[in-house]
Amino acid sequence: MNRLTKNAGIAAACWALLALPGLLATPAVAADAAPYKVVDGNKVDAQTLSGWKTWRAMACERCHGAAQEGMVGPSLVNSLKVLNKDEFKAAVLKGRIEKGMPNFDTSKMVNENIDSLYAYLKGRSDGAIEPGRLQEIGK
Ligand code: HEC
Repeated sequence: MNRLTKNAGIAAACWALLALPGLLATPAVAADAAPYKVVDGNKVDAQTLSGWKTWRAMACERCHGAAQEGMVGPSLVNSLKVLNKDEFKAAVLKGRIEKGMPNFDTSKMVNENIDSLYAYLKGRSDGAIEPGRLQEIGK
């Protein structure tokens, strides 16, 4: 490597460092963008509605409570403040059989609606979506 390319390399590295705060800020903003839309606490976008329907169909409330407040399973209002989306998906799809959380990867509905389920539960965890029945915005 001649001196010129080496300096260019250092300059590029410096630029990368200067740009770093900007790069770091971008994903943080993206993570803050809510994965659901909600109006009046109980009207949601179609995707989030499918998440709620999946929650009902799988009867997750048997163990996590009708308002996700926790029963034999932990409070998902709390869990969704801590788990990221990938961790959430792994917990639901693979389950934690030895600890009493069933695996749902054999369910077509859960596989197809895992993002929606996340959106719904995130909305519950954020306190933006009320417990109970939901309907679609504008319907
Ligand atoms: C038979 C009871 C049962 C059912 C039904 C059930 N869960 Fe669970 N779930 C548990 C238990 C118990 C745990 C805690 C496992 C552990 O200790 O790691 C858990 C853990 C979880 C976690 C991880 C929480 C964390 O903080 O790490 C998520 C997310 C979750 N369940 C979502 C769901 C969803 C969504 C459904 C419905 C599709 C569901 N569960 C159905 C019992 C259940």
